Amino acid sequence: MKPKLYSIRKVFPAILLCFFSLFSAAQPYQSNWQSIDSRPIPQWFTDAKFGIFIHWGLFSVPAWGPTEGNVYEKYAEWYWSRQNPDGKPSKAFSDFHNKTFGEKVKYQDFVKDFKAEMFNPDQWAEVFKQAGAKYIVLTSKHHEGFTLWPSKQSWNWNAVDVGPHRDLAGDLTKAVKAQGLHMGFYYSLYEWYNPLYKDDLTKYVDDHMIPQLKDLVTRYQPDVVWTDGEWDHPSEKWKSTEFLAWLYNESPVKETVVVNDRWGKETRSKHGGIYTTEYDLVHDQNAQGKKIEHPWEECRGIGGSFGYNRNENLKDYETSESLVHILIDKVARGGNLLLNIGPTADGRIPVIMQQRLKDMGDWLAVNGESIYGTHAWDKSPAVGKETTVFFTAKGKDLFVIVTKWQDKPITVSGVSGASNVSLIGFNGNVKYASSGNKLTITPPSISPATNPCQYAWVFKIKDGLK
Ligand code: GLC
Repeated sequence: MKPKLYSIRKVFPAILLCFFSLFSAAQPYQSNWQSIDSRPIPQWFTDAKFGIFIHWGLFSVPAWGPTEGNVYEKYAEWYWSRQNPDGKPSKAFSDFHNKTFGEKVKYQDFVKDFKAEMFNPDQWAEVFKQAGAKYIVLTSKHHEGFTLWPSKQSWNWNAVDVGPHRDLAGDLTKAVKAQGLHMGFYYSLYEWYNPLYKDDLTKYVDDHMIPQLKDLVTRYQPDVVWTDGEWDHPSEKWKSTEFLAWLYNESPVKETVVVNDRWGKETRSKHGGIYTTEYDLVHDQNAQGKKIEHPWEECRGIGGSFGYNRNENLKDYETSESLVHILIDKVARGGNLLLNIGPTADGRIPVIMQQRLKDMGDWLAVNGESIYGTHAWDKSPAVGKETTVFFTAKGKDLFVIVTKWQDKPITVSGVSGASNVSLIGFNGNVKYASSGNKLTITPPSISPATNPCQYAWVFKIKDGLK
């Protein structure tokens, strides 16, 4: 029998189809929000709960901001813009500048004092690990445009060419990864005074911003790309979905990377990856106490600024107790906390910040199982300002976190039984009783010697969620 010969014209469509289906399997995400938004948030992030934000740059040299005012007015990292009539000028900032440095001193002059001579990335990473944080987000470039890595698009305006003469981003990445933590970068889409940005947005995006983002990702393989400074333009102008399609389809971190929602003036709490609140605000809307269904993250400083503010005193800093409570509040509402520190221009994490982080780490060392890998309990009563009993859930277990110790019994509605109830870190028994769908816990009497921790206490209701 004569072998059947297929004409090329007949098989060509099939070959084409094969080629396209192979291609689209390798390129699952397209450059549009519907496709980009369909990617699940990697679980490592929602399990991690606690990260550390680092704002470090030339603004760490003047390191100054007012301690009164609305949330944004206190940001020391806005120092340059606050001096400038074309920016967001502020008399408090310019008075301070003129008095301290003199009118002739330009912001660019600060680069000679950004030396980072005390910077010890291993010591920083140890502080982060001890704090119980699981990921780090460093300002690779803030709105000033100065990069903490040797970006060729930022020639002579980066930490290797001038100032510290060191790849700060690279050195910290190595140390953080060596501690087994996830490394990530903050990146400002806009740059206040870059002439290219001001004169030709398309060229800025094509020749500066996208190459920088890709360089950061391929060089350091970060697990978080945390953008900001998006508000001047819609995401289409920033070509955000094009970049994200590359990030999700082709980049070396396509499986693990997490991004946020700051990709264009219309995207916050709508598109991208995790939603972000900042000092409990989304833009100017107060998000405090609200339940947010999508994975989200609150960022804030220990004081009122992200960049180091020398003007702040102890009264401007949150106490360790209040920081532990902030973490609990966010986690019980399904979020993460990205707590910011502002290192100094010489490369130190101020000791008071180290101390706050250490206290959080000590609390987490005892109670971490009620935080990491948990989710908000769907039957939790609404969380308000006065709430002192919070809930988190994991598998069949429910955690009842009390931020104010109480001797009187705690009644939990929506739980009909348990195989055991314990106070985490405490060696004695805890009495409990159930009736109907209520479980009542009688807190044990604890003394200073048997108290497992400070600031907040966790009752674990084992097998309470069946
Ligand atoms: C902002 C600010 C900024 C800070 C940040 C952190 O929008 O401009 O200074 O870096 O968000 O969320």
